[in-house]
Amino acid sequence: MWIVASDIDGTLTGDRDSLNRLASRLRGLREAGELLLIYSTGRRLEQVIAGVAEEGLPEPDAVLCQVGTEIYVSPLTEHAQPMAVWREKLLAEYSRQEAVSFLKGIEGLVMQPSEFNTELKTSCFLDGCPKPDDAADEIRRRIELYTDRYQVVWSSGRDLDILPASSGKGKAIRFLVERQGLAPDRVVVAGDTGNDATMFVEFLKGVVVANARRELLEFADSLAGGDVYIARKPYAAGVEEGLEYFGVFNSSAS
Ligand code: GLC
Repeated sequence: MWIVASDIDGTLTGDRDSLNRLASRLRGLREAGELLLIYSTGRRLEQVIAGVAEEGLPEPDAVLCQVGTEIYVSPLTEHAQPMAVWREKLLAEYSRQEAVSFLKGIEGLVMQPSEFNTELKTSCFLDGCPKPDDAADEIRRRIELYTDRYQVVWSSGRDLDILPASSGKGKAIRFLVERQGLAPDRVVVAGDTGNDATMFVEFLKGVVVANARRELLEFADSLAGGDVYIARKPYAAGVEEGLEYFGVFNSSAS
């Protein structure tokens, strides 16, 4: 049994033909009971469900939404509730009011729409700031001086999230894998931007697609000890290439 934990946007999506090809191979493995498919995404659950219905994404077994602050397991319907133990654990360390206070007075900062701002995730855009990287550093500095209960996720030169320190994509996958008694060395993660970095910290096998942002490529380069595969191809074709490399398709179903 392999566990593939992949980001969606820009990692699986971006080229429909290659997604169709990968999706059919992943469905084959899932149906043979050889794959557990997890999406780890910044999307909301209904956007993931729409992606399965309309964008050709294969049906997953679990979905980590809002950058790992919400965990959903099958059956994945629009009425599904996030896993309560995870939510309660994170709520104990997070105060949205406090998180918002770290953003005060940053010139050019714009809050993301309310659907991406939850009781466990405070998200804004910094691409309107005179120097977005400096603004992200300033927010990170403010938080680090004050507490270790939060983590800052900086992606794509635009998105900044303040999350509970115990959350994020990597920790959410680990929580799920341990809870289900699965082997961490059978996990392969895949991503394209900064909010995927924590997956590569938690797990040794990872695929970075060719269209990845420099922030993730540089981060992957700096990791010691892991086996990160930098794909030659972009989007789903790159994920497929990486899964080939790790031997995920070397089983009876493929
Ligand atoms: C997704 C989320 C957004 C977040 C970004 C980076 O785009 O929708 O809220 O800021 O990922 O983590």
